[in-house]
Amino acid sequence: MLHNRRILLGITGSIAAYKSALLARELQRRGAHVRVVMTRAATEFITPLTLATLTGHRVYSDFTENKDQGLWTNHVDLGLWADVFLIAPATAQTLSSMIAGAGDNFLLAVHLSSRCPVVVAPAMDLDMYQHPATQENLAMLKSREVSVIEPESGPLASGLDGKGRMAEPEAIADWLESWFAERAPLHGHHVLVTAGPTHEPIDAVRFIGNRSSGKMGYALAEAFATAGAAVHLITGPTQLTAPANVHEIVEVQTAQEMFNETMARFEKIDIAVAAAAVADARPVDAADHKLHKDQLPGAISLEATPDILAAMGAQKTPTQFIVGFALETDDGLRSAQSKLERKKADLIILNTTADAGAGFGTDTNKITILEKSGKTHNFELKSKAEVAKDIVETVLNTLQS
Ligand code: C5P
Repeated sequence: MLHNRRILLGITGSIAAYKSALLARELQRRGAHVRVVMTRAATEFITPLTLATLTGHRVYSDFTENKDQGLWTNHVDLGLWADVFLIAPATAQTLSSMIAGAGDNFLLAVHLSSRCPVVVAPAMDLDMYQHPATQENLAMLKSREVSVIEPESGPLASGLDGKGRMAEPEAIADWLESWFAERAPLHGHHVLVTAGPTHEPIDAVRFIGNRSSGKMGYALAEAFATAGAAVHLITGPTQLTAPANVHEIVEVQTAQEMFNETMARFEKIDIAVAAAAVADARPVDAADHKLHKDQLPGAISLEATPDILAAMGAQKTPTQFIVGFALETDDGLRSAQSKLERKKADLIILNTTADAGAGFGTDTNKITILEKSGKTHNFELKSKAEVAKDIVETVLNTLQS
């Protein structure tokens, strides 16, 4: 859930600031992009150099970058860049300044201008934490939609024991994972993606296949996972590494196996995307051993494989949504339209090898999306990861409307 998330980490002046280095590390380990802003007080506890080295980016703690040249740091940009502004540790002082709407340090100015959600992980001594002023500030922050990661109980820097320790970096990262998951548009939804080619055996070592690389299907699996879905990837043979965060990957060889694994899951699936280039036909009699050269038949009899997309279309309930692909060698609009109707799909993604950089094996694709209503959406040539995002967005928009 933290993969590719942009987290702006705000560090304020508490001894717990030493844990922020571990936190930045942990967030990055889980795939997040991290930038850091610190108050002056925080730089007394941990150096900007530590955070800059860990994150690979400069750390912001002042309004000016180079006073001699009159350069100032744009606090608005940071707030716009982030998916979330996480202030950890957040001192009692910073919490009260946030309530007051103060902007007298760079971190507070970022807070005032940020459009992303704000999360605070308070850290302070137990009496400061329990003080009615702090408790009221926290309650008021919550009423302004600021989320609070509760501090933990235990030994404090003062020598006292009680509630006020900043949550541990792992616990904060876990908290953020669930927070992102709950806000993701497809949280709680099951998405099935078929990907790659299928191999239809002629004998124990030979097969009929096609040039599909699986890249489009794998990019889709990852994009749906990022949108919060539990993704079931049913994949034919590919050379690709497993996409991040998918719920399950089922490896198959033949169209029949892909059909069986897909249909076994279809009942609980909310959205299915048939991105696989399923072989349309298979040899009728595959030998279970290697045929010697002189045993090879002059012709191979073929029979049709099951059409997975059409089977899903025939079985689908009104709440299920299915997406098919149409790979054509010409502009193919009419044939894509007929596929949409024949296979009872909700959307068809048309791509044509007539477009340079589109289709099998490439890292890019150029698609047109056809809706049941007849509406079409044309997209530019983009990386398959970007195309996958466009498809997820179109699915979400179509479902909403
Ligand atoms: O009919 P055609 O193979 O061109 O249709 C392409 C669409 O149908 C793709 O979404 C593909 O994944 C799906 N399909 C399938 N099972 C087949 C053949 C195609 O799911 N046997």
